[in-house]
Amino acid sequence: LSVENQNIISAYEWLTKLYHHLLRYTKDGKDGYRYFRDRGISDETIDEFQLGFAPNIKDFTATFLEKKGFHKQLLVKAGILTLQSDDTVTDRFRGRVIYPIRNHLGKTVAFGGRTITDQGPKYLNSSESDLFHKGKILYNFDLAKKHIRKKSEVILFEGQMDVISAYQAGVKNVVATMGTALTEMQAKLLRRYVDNVIICYDADNAGIEASYKAATLLQSVGCQVKIAKMKDGMDPDNFIQEIGAEAFKTEVIEASDTFMTFYMNYLKKDYNLSLEGDRLQYIENVLKELAKIDSPIEREFYVKELSSEYDLMMDTLLEEIQVYRQKSDTPKDKSEKDRYTNKVQKPYQ
Ligand code: GTP
Ligand code: MN
Ligand code: MN
Ligand code: MN
Ligand code: MN
Repeated sequence: LSVENQNIISAYEWLTKLYHHLLRYTKDGKDGYRYFRDRGISDETIDEFQLGFAPNIKDFTATFLEKKGFHKQLLVKAGILTLQSDDTVTDRFRGRVIYPIRNHLGKTVAFGGRTITDQGPKYLNSSESDLFHKGKILYNFDLAKKHIRKKSEVILFEGQMDVISAYQAGVKNVVATMGTALTEMQAKLLRRYVDNVIICYDADNAGIEASYKAATLLQSVGCQVKIAKMKDGMDPDNFIQEIGAEAFKTEVIEASDTFMTFYMNYLKKDYNLSLEGDRLQYIENVLKELAKIDSPIEREFYVKELSSEYDLMMDTLLEEIQVYRQKSDTPKDKSEKDRYTNKVQKPYQ
């Protein structure tokens, strides 16, 4: 680690402690403290995630860190201060609750800051730096790691609050992409630790689209994927807070769909299934996807479903699948093969 990066980490360490202290023990952080407690977050959880509050003062952070000997320039690079057009700097985070974003080693390398007054963007992150690339980091990966191993399963969320609520509820093998699309780098990082990924994104259109993309990507790196579903409009955090942790475990996580079941529903949105032509196309597309499954038992399972739902003979459907399997240029057992030929790197220690 370069001296500069060491200093950036040290600045984040100071600031994490300061923001956390303000929130937890002072009048200046009271609004932030109330915010988390009102969202059902306990003192212990606030401490564990080092949640904090950045007061609404333009140069609060700048003054504090400069007194500690950090240079303005470095703090701009770190994404903590913002450079103005007149060359002065201001605090990037003002009047926001703070979520320290830790790398896989547990070092804070960025902050997420959420408004508590509905002003400005809902979430604001540190700008990207040498140490922080949003597409390379998964929120909470450092704490989740050992639970991911133990359960040989990881649950993937959209946001920080989803992770924090689940973790507090005892579901600890949880990480989040922080709103952006899962990247190949993140998928490969997960792959090094587990076979099984449960995607549990928000139950809205954006979440469903993102689930499809993430599922495809995760499968392409060799993961077994399941997709959780909740009632329309919910996200994991409000499900846990409103309906409860036990229901979340049994009705959401344990009841998650296989990729194929998810896909069969997902595809439906493109068709009007009361029209014969659409119905045929829909079935063709489902069969194409089914053809990619290598286990004959698994294939038959879905074929049975299709056959009864659309009143078609199983033999016809199975035959069609064989045609697609012969046509496809991808080698048989592609996903299995990838698993052994993609050199699986040693996990980070
Ligand atoms: P809460 O109200 O805090 O529960 O957030 P949410 O559930 O509405 O968050 P949402 O599902 O919209 O987004 C999931 C994650 O995306 C958040 O945890 C953030 O990390 C990120 N995100 C959400 N909104 C913004 C935004 O306005 N800007 C940026 N940069 N990230 C965002
Ligand atoms: Mn939102
Ligand atoms: Mn969302
Ligand atoms: Mn959400
Ligand atoms: Mn939410």
